[in-house]
Order: sequence, then C-alpha cells, then structure tokens
Amino acid sequence: MAYTATVDDQQVSCGEDQSMLDAFLRAGVWMPNSCNQGTCGTCKLRVLNGAVDHGDSPADTLTAEEREVGLALACQARLRSDAVVETLGGAAGGGITHPLRDLMATVLGNDDIARDTRRLRLALSEPLAFHAGQYVELTVPGTQLRRQYSLANTADEDEVLELHVRSVSGGAATERWIFDGLAVGDQIPVTGPLGDFFLPPEDSDDGGPMVLIGGGTGLAPLIGLARTALSRDPGRRVLLYHGVRGVDDLYDLDRMAELTTVHPAFTFIPVLSHEAPAQGTAHRAGLPTDLFVDDIDSARGWSGWLCGPPPMVEAGVKAFKRRRMAPRMIHREKFTPATD
Ligand code: FES
Repeated sequence: MAYTATVDDQQVSCGEDQSMLDAFLRAGVWMPNSCNQGTCGTCKLRVLNGAVDHGDSPADTLTAEEREVGLALACQARLRSDAVVETLGGAAGGGITHPLRDLMATVLGNDDIARDTRRLRLALSEPLAFHAGQYVELTVPGTQLRRQYSLANTADEDEVLELHVRSVSGGAATERWIFDGLAVGDQIPVTGPLGDFFLPPEDSDDGGPMVLIGGGTGLAPLIGLARTALSRDPGRRVLLYHGVRGVDDLYDLDRMAELTTVHPAFTFIPVLSHEAPAQGTAHRAGLPTDLFVDDIDSARGWSGWLCGPPPMVEAGVKAFKRRRMAPRMIHREKFTPATD
C-alpha cells in the first residue's frame, strides 16, 4: 500500500513502511535532513492535511504540542493516508538534490591511518551523485544495522568512496566488523547520499573565508568541503582545524601539506587536546574551538563548518558567534550515537 504526499507542486509516493524522508529523497525531492535517526529535528515538517504515524519520534525532538499542531519528523513518520505537507527549512542551498539510492560496493582498501582509525575505500557498482560533505549508510552484513559515515570525497570522485572510521569499543559495525574481518573484495550495501552538510551551489556561494573544525574522524567531510571550496576559488582563505587527543590520532598530514603548497591561502592546524606538542612541529595544544577565537578577531562574512562530537560542535557554534559569524553561515554535523 502506498500513499501520496504533496509538497508544493510535487507529488511523492510513500510506501506504508517507508519514512516520508526516505520517499522524498529517493524521488529526488529535497527535504532538509541531517541525522536520519529522529534526534536533530532538521527534517521537521508540517502536515497540512492527512494522517501520519509518528513511529519512534522521540518526545524531546517532537513534543506533544508539536504533534497537536500537525508537525512531524519526516525521517520517522509514515503516512496513513494521502497528505499535503510543507517543509519548514529552506531548499538545499537552493540547489540540486541527488536522489537517495541503494548500491553495492566492493572493498578496495581498509587501512589503519591513525590510532583506532581506518580509511575505507569502496568501489561502487555504479557512480553515485552526491555533494561533498554528505554521508552514506553502510549495512552490517547479516543484520539490519546501519551505520553512517561521512564522505571525504569531492563530488567528481563518484566511483570510489572514502570513509574514515573510528573503532568503538564493542561496536557491532566497527570493532566486530570493519576492524575485525572486513577484507578487500568484500561486498557491502551502501545507501546514500544523506545529510545537508554541504556547500551552497557555486552560483550562490559568496566565496568568503571559511573555517572548518573537525574532531577525530570529523575531518572526513571537511576534506571534501575544503577541496571543493578551493577548486571553486583556488585563492580562497580556508582554515581547517583538526582536533584530536594525541599525535597518534592525527592523519592525512601529507595530504594537508600538499593542499597548503598548492593553495597558499589554505591553512591546516592540527590541535592536540591531551598531549604537549613536540618541539619543531606545527601542532598546537588545546581545543580547536578556543584556538579559533584566539586566532581570528572577527569572523563577519565567514562561513563555519563543524563536524565531530556534540560538545565540540556546540563549543564551535559559540566560538563562531563570539567572533560575529552570522548564524545562517554556521553549518554543523554532529556525531550521533548509533541506533539499532
Ligand atoms: S530528526 Fe529527522 S533528520 Fe534528524
């Protein structure tokens, strides 16, 4: 059984067991989204008429009052009748929506790159269109478990995906799969692209300075974003802070050095929170969000990009606002705990 959702002048068929978000994105109709797990509230929409089942929508993301006035989480809600809905967020930077797809991928590489960190390279069965900064979901073989990993790729790298994976103690996807047994040649189901962590379209990108702050493997999408921004404007001022606990957690230093050589206005700042930097290195001590406040007097006209653990992202938002960055220029991607 399927129902029809109408949004603006577009009609989308939604399966009975399919979230509205899944149906919209597969149809190539944009809907704001981030966590796809009911925790961020980005996909909230208004049901103007029609019936929905709110499924597992958490009460702290969608309150009883919000349900009363017709709001719903598109990533959790299923239609129970035809419906007319309106999204609350804007279009995806006014740009292109790449349809959500299911593909198979073959593991090309699964390599240690830092402490408890792997680089996974996946050759897709066919190219996948995405925006740099978006993420994909991997399905753990033999289970229904899905795990989300950001792409470190630029959009033209659409045949081999690069993911950075940190081992989670006891994790079904990391410790018990990717770090234990996943081999070159294995086949993995991949679903994507998802998320709204990407640059505005080139014709609406203001081209102003950018600061990107990543914690741990939060570096991955920032690599794709920074390279995309620099390919649009090779002289753009781009600061990339990578916050980690110790020097053994750093990776891709050569890649960053290469970018710095090609783009003199690009600066990479590795930051150690739990170790004193060794003499003669460019590593800095502290928290990247604090260092940004120390380094930059005013971020008016800048855009800011944050990816990592929630406390780091929240500290980054405060740091950017303190330096007068406009709230609409602040973009964030929080690590969300895996849900089974
Ligand atoms: S709550 Fe639906 S995308 Fe986050």
